[in-house]
Order: sequence, then structure tokens, then C-alpha cells
Amino acid sequence: MRPEAVRIIRDEHVAISAVLYLLRKQAQQVRANAADVDFTLLRAILDYIVSYPERWHHPKEDKFLFRAIRRRTREADKLIAALEKEHRQGLKAIEALKASLVELINGSSEERARFPQLAEAYFEFEWAHMRQEEDVLMPIAERHLTAADWEEVGAAFRENDNPLFGIKPKDEAQRLYRTILQACPPGEARSAT
Ligand SMILES: [Fe+2]
Ligand SMILES: [Fe+2]
Repeated sequence: MRPEAVRIIRDEHVAISAVLYLLRKQAQQVRANAADVDFTLLRAILDYIVSYPERWHHPKEDKFLFRAIRRRTREADKLIAALEKEHRQGLKAIEALKASLVELINGSSEERARFPQLAEAYFEFEWAHMRQEEDVLMPIAERHLTAADWEEVGAAFRENDNPLFGIKPKDEAQRLYRTILQACPPGEARSAT
């Protein structure tokens, strides 16, 4: 039977993908110079990406999943090094997007062209990243991790908040996710769930 951790990570990827899709759609509206660009929605999308995939999902992969795989095999060393690097790059990319959005809101015409490029690049980057994790890394993990390893990884991914830091990223992410779904047009809300 497939480990619970694999299912949780896949589910998290699905939620992240839905938000990335909305980011891309909104960025296309920016590019088209549409009058109805929803900056509140764009801000909620970027806040969600920072608080959930960037500060929660990816660090857990680094700390638990990647570590467990390294403990059992060298087969994924190169791939894990690349994925860890991408986690760091992703955080920088989202900071650049946030800065670009601030300029865009302030009326910068340059950012009307730049923001959609950054958003599209981020979409492609994260999409490819998640594909590598699911299609290449997970099969290696499933070949090498023991039931006890999976239990440890699963426990980390089941955890909803981190009392050590006094924050509840999952609650925060769910709040932002609701904001995003409420703010986006009905047709898009359906495709994001
Ligand atoms: Fe990742
Ligand atoms: Fe991931």
C-alpha cells in the first residue's frame, strides 16, 4: 500500500498547483492590461505561496523526506541537491514577485510587462519542481524507505503547526486559501478546488 506521506505530499502539491494556476491566470490579466486585475487576490496568492509552499511544504521536504532518502540510498543525491537548490531559488523568486507586485500597484508600467514574465517563470519552475519530486524522487523513496521511515515522514507532514515557532502555517494557509477562492471569479474558483 502507498505510504500516507506520499498521499499527503501529493495533496499538498495539488493545492499548490491550484494556486499557481490562479497566479498564472491573474498574471495573464495583467499582461492583457485588463481593467479588472484583482490586486487583493494577487496579494493573497503571493502571501499564500510564501507562507505555505515556501515556508512550510518545502522545508519539511528538506528536513524529513530528503533526509530519510539520503539515509537509505545515494541514488537520489544529485536530484536532492538540485531540489534543495530549487527550494532556495523559489523563495528568492517569490520575493521578487512580491516586490514587482508592489511596483505594479504603485502604477509602474514596466512591471505590467515584468510581473507576468516573473509569474509565468515561477509557475513553470514550481511545476517542473513538483513533477521531479513526484515522478522521479518518490519512486526512489518508495523503493528504499522502510515502514518506520515513512511513519517518521508522515508524522512530520501530518503535523498542522509548529509550536516551536509559535505559528500555525496550516491555519494561516487555509485562511489565505479561502480568501483566494472567495476573491477569484466563480469559474476559476471551481477549477482551483
Ligand atoms: Fe519541493
Ligand atoms: Fe514538494
